Amino acid sequence: MCSNIVDFKINGCHYKFPIVYGTYNKAINIAHLRENTEFITFDPGLKNTGVTKSSISFIDGEKGILLYRGYPIEQIIKKCSFIETSYLILNGELPNTAQLKHFSEKIKEFNCINQNIYKILDEIPNFCHPMGILSSLTYILTSFTNYLKDEDMYFHLLAKLPILAALTYRKKVGLPPSYPDKNISYVSNLLKMFFYIPNKSYQQNTIITDALDKLLILHADHEQNCSTTTVRLLGSAHADLFSAVSAGISALWGRLHGGANQAVIEMLEVILKSGGNIKKWLDKAKNKKDPFRLMGFGHRIYKNFDPRAKIAKKVAENIVKELNISDPVLELAKNLEEKALQDSYFKEKKLYPNIDFYSGIIYQAIGIPKDMFTVMFALGRLPGWMAHWKEMKLNMDPIVRPRQIYIGNKKRNIQKN
Ligand code: ACO
Repeated sequence: MCSNIVDFKINGCHYKFPIVYGTYNKAINIAHLRENTEFITFDPGLKNTGVTKSSISFIDGEKGILLYRGYPIEQIIKKCSFIETSYLILNGELPNTAQLKHFSEKIKEFNCINQNIYKILDEIPNFCHPMGILSSLTYILTSFTNYLKDEDMYFHLLAKLPILAALTYRKKVGLPPSYPDKNISYVSNLLKMFFYIPNKSYQQNTIITDALDKLLILHADHEQNCSTTTVRLLGSAHADLFSAVSAGISALWGRLHGGANQAVIEMLEVILKSGGNIKKWLDKAKNKKDPFRLMGFGHRIYKNFDPRAKIAKKVAENIVKELNISDPVLELAKNLEEKALQDSYFKEKKLYPNIDFYSGIIYQAIGIPKDMFTVMFALGRLPGWMAHWKEMKLNMDPIVRPRQIYIGNKKRNIQKN
């Protein structure tokens, strides 16, 4: 029988703490630990700390399971579009036909940005990284859309982030701004805004649209990851949603998080250029004195296959085959994965390929440049960020304000007259 209490003995005294049960996991509620014992917990990186109760997604890292609102990612990929998945993540249930139509129409209603944002973009130097630009422009939205209801903010962001992403890409490659097309699907519109060339007719390619739709679904939510935690952290202080998403984009940019998708392709290209000696690079990754890590490998939660990586690998193989691309990087990635999975270092540390290991190969096949990969990740993660924001407000979560162990000087006096 499950107990609802754990008993701790601290300095000879007994303390009882309640257990919090979730659908699949459990935690010790230490909310009154400090007031009762004077101790705080010490958990760098929050590796063992549950910061909230959530019903959006669930990961079983030992078994390699990912659920969105209870549905396995493998079923969602087969049966849902990205926009249906966004609805599911934000609202808790899959939409019926009327709900999906309303949701899509509402996004289209906000499918434009203030003309002055184009002027601001013009002033940003071309050498800036697209993630810096996307984060800045998302933040700039706070100055153009005041006093919105939360409900409208979700639609504004779903509509406007793809526009900002496409503008960022087009500025980089020297194309004039493009405008949304209300008559096509969310992902088709996204691709058209990226690749439309004014003097050429634009042809949709269903293989590309389908691959991107799947990749966005794979990124849609992943419980309390670093960028989502950032969004929740800002929200806990009652900052506005645009600022919080802008901060989430900045957190995602980091190479240990979403920025790994760019880092993976850069790493694979360097390995190829240097002769493709996989053993040499695995040895580098294992050498504690060498800062090199095998990018796209390892995960805080998954100690088994990342189910998203398995799907992304299939999507990568399919798009490369369907578009008749000969991609030595894909072949190298498959070889590297095979060798790493046989290596005792990676086996012992339970390091498996994560979502970022194969996603870059798909983006490259679509024609998206390397420094835009993490921007695409941000577009996929947007529903998750917003759902966590919404949930945090409904739960009335308190402001996030961790403690620390102070190791600085003891109180002292300034020795100066
Ligand atoms: N290559 C080599 N060794 C690794 C790797 C790797 N990719 N990942 C982890 N390790 C080793 C660490 O050196 C450490 O070894 P030690 O126990 O001997 O000190 C051990 O495995 C545990 O690693 P930590 O860094 O402590 O694990 P943590 O949970 O803190 O980090 C992370 C997870 C950041 C993803 C890490 O695995 C990593 O840096 N991977 C490469 C970057 C990457 O692919 N990031 C994308 C993650 S998915 C996402 O954010 C969308």
